[in-house]
Parts: sequence; structure tokens; C-alpha cells
Amino acid sequence: MGWLQSLFRRRRATGRTGPLDVRHARQVAALHHQGGFARLWDPGECAALLADRAVVTEGVFIGSASDPCGFVMSRIAADEAEILSIVVAGSKRRSGLGQTLLAAHLALLGARGIGRLFLEVEEGNASAIGLYHRLGFETVGRREGYYPKPDGSRAAALVMRRDLG
Ligand SMILES: CC(C)(COP(=O)(O)OP(=O)(O)OC[C@H]1O[C@@H](n2cnc3c(N)ncnc32)[C@H](O)[C@@H]1OP(=O)(O)O)[C@@H](O)C(=O)NCCC(=O)NCCS
Repeated sequence: MGWLQSLFRRRRATGRTGPLDVRHARQVAALHHQGGFARLWDPGECAALLADRAVVTEGVFIGSASDPCGFVMSRIAADEAEILSIVVAGSKRRSGLGQTLLAAHLALLGARGIGRLFLEVEEGNASAIGLYHRLGFETVGRREGYYPKPDGSRAAALVMRRDLG
């Protein structure tokens, strides 16, 4: 393989996934801060979400690390669920961890009898939209001016859906 191909070949990381609980509140808050979201979550808010029985949170870990390098969190209501957040640490992106994490999450929710999973994503968030398309989500709606931007403008949200089971 030529040097140019090697340079641009993407590194794939082997991630293992597992459930997160209140003990991971600080790590979840720190990861959420890396997500580039307008509203940050503090560790107390993360602890409350992690303790909520209607919220399912999974992390992705590299090797034997006990700290996750990414997480996904969904809230369940009857046989539907909504993704509240998904983040992979900035330095670990584009190496397959987001896909590993979300695929495991879809399998877990499906096994728990969830029929449909929804989410909202900022219209210009190409990496997240690419990941969701890759895992079979389709756009079912658009919310104009949904996200406040640092410059005072507002961005539209796409509503996406994935049927499970
Ligand atoms: C979205 C996010 C979780 C993806 O995690 P990741 O580990 O980088 O994703 P992966 O490496 O598993 O990529 C899986 C697929 O997603 C798509 N994708 C990921 N990053 C992309 C990018 N920068 N541009 C375009 N597509 C991208 C690709 O289809 C990719 O498959 P490929 O690498 O075979 O082409 C990560 O970018 C992130 O944490 N972003 C900030 C937080 C955020 O925006 N969360 C979503 C809120 S709705």
C-alpha cells in the first residue's frame, strides 16, 4: 500500500460496550462537554439521568479501560424510546466506536421490546447524520429554529426514526 493510502486509511478501534450507572456521572458529563452542545450537562444532572429507571445508558470502552470513551443514552416510554445524547470522545472519533456503540444500543432496546427509536439532530451535524443513516435511521420531520446557536441564530433539527425488531 502506498504512503498516501496509508495516510488516509482510517484506523478502526475495537470497542466493547457495557451499561453505565451513577458511578459514571462525572465521565458522562465530561464526554457530554466534548459533544459541542449548546446546553451542557453537569455531573448532578448526569447522575439523575443515570439513576432514572426509564433511561438506558451504555458506554463504549477501549481495551481494559474502566472509563468509557463514549456513551449513548435513551429514554424509554412504553414501546418507544428517544436518544437523549450520543457522544464519542473527540480524540477517538471516526474509528468506528460510535457505530459499535449505537449498534449495541439498538440491539439492547430491541431485546427490551422497544419498537421505535426517535432522535433529534441539528441539520448541519454531518457526522451524526452520517452515523444515523449508516444504522438505518430515516428522516421523518424537521423542526425549524430548534437549536440556539452561539451567534444568536437558530438551527433546524431533523427528527429521525429507526424501527426495531
Ligand atoms: C456523531 C459521533 C457520535 C460519531 O461517532 P464516531 O465514533 O466518530 O463514528 P464512527 O467512527 O463509528 O462512524 C460511523 C459512521 O458515521 C459516519 N460519520 C462519522 N463521522 C463522520 C464525519 N465526520 N463525516 C461524515 N460521516 C461521518 C460515517 O458513515 C461513518 O462510517 P465510516 O467511518 O465507515 O465512513 C461523534 O462524531 C460525536 O461524538 N459527535 C459530537 C456529538 C454529537 O454531535 N452527537 C450527536 C447528537 S444528535
